[in-house]
Amino acid sequence: MEVKRVAVLGAGLMGHGITQICAQTGKFEVVMRDIEQRFIDNGMEMIQDSIQRFVRKGTMSEGEAKGVLNRIHTTLDLKEAVRNADLVIEAVTENPALKKSVLADADRFAPSHAIIASNTSSISITEIGAATKRAEKVCGMHFFNPPQLMKLIEIVRGLKTSDETVETIRQISMKLGKESVVVKKDTPGFIVNRILVPALNEAVFLVAEGIAEPEDIDKACTLGLNWPIGPLKLLDYVGIDTTLFITDVMVNETGDPKFRPSSLLKQMVRANLLGRKSGRGFYDWTRK
Ligand code: CAA
Repeated sequence: MEVKRVAVLGAGLMGHGITQICAQTGKFEVVMRDIEQRFIDNGMEMIQDSIQRFVRKGTMSEGEAKGVLNRIHTTLDLKEAVRNADLVIEAVTENPALKKSVLADADRFAPSHAIIASNTSSISITEIGAATKRAEKVCGMHFFNPPQLMKLIEIVRGLKTSDETVETIRQISMKLGKESVVVKKDTPGFIVNRILVPALNEAVFLVAEGIAEPEDIDKACTLGLNWPIGPLKLLDYVGIDTTLFITDVMVNETGDPKFRPSSLLKQMVRANLLGRKSGRGFYDWTRK
């Protein structure tokens, strides 16, 4: 199936980057939708900022930058966003009820041939696919943060996802300049988060137990393991709330206590210390 028009639902941390990469590398016409104008404005600001970085570096010309921005359209209306889409990529908050309702609406208003992909990092694709009447055309398309730079897409099969859907998403991933891997079974955390989230959570246990300072834990992993950034800084990038949510899904779905979140993670979410997005997590992000 040929994809020309993409709708991205959600203009947040992931949605804006997915929109940008679809317009920039994929050269698709993209409609980015969110529920309030301020979220769209914020998403567009992040896109402008990212594009300017490429321009400053000389990897994108001013003309290309204009072309990317011209291919991006925005709306507050979901029906309007998806009605001409060949591919809908859902990137709303990690909340199963919300995702199901957004997918059900996308299913109602998108053309019957359209694929509906979810950028969920942990929620069951089979479960959210069941909110639509086209479960065979629903799959996971999991980008990594920041989507503009990270090379991987995890393609996740729900129980009813067709081979054709997986193949189309694999080809689109290539068009976006990404490498993809297929997660053959719909399992919490897929591949990357199944490995990463317990490691991040363990770093939080180290802080909570007073074993080392966050800076030293990060230093240990960057210098001792060659990680590009330490686990606590990465937590601030990913979002403390998102990480807590993933650990909760892992515990609830598998029943395995090895995934239990540190109580410090929970307390930080209660205190709105969510990382970069709220200005403070393990680090202070209010000063540039
Ligand atoms: N758009 C374009 N360019 C960007 C950018 C963006 N959004 N963000 C950073 N850059 C560029 C910068 O301009 C800079 O370019 P130069 O080196 O050419 O000057 C370069 O990237 C490095 O940026 P910074 O110096 O500002 O910051 P950094 O050294 O920390 O690098 C990073 C940024 C590449 C993102 C790096 O921090 C990194 O690799 N982080 C790890 C990312 C990661 O692990 N992501 C996975 C998260 S897990 C996840 O997403 C899954 C989930 O479901 C939870």
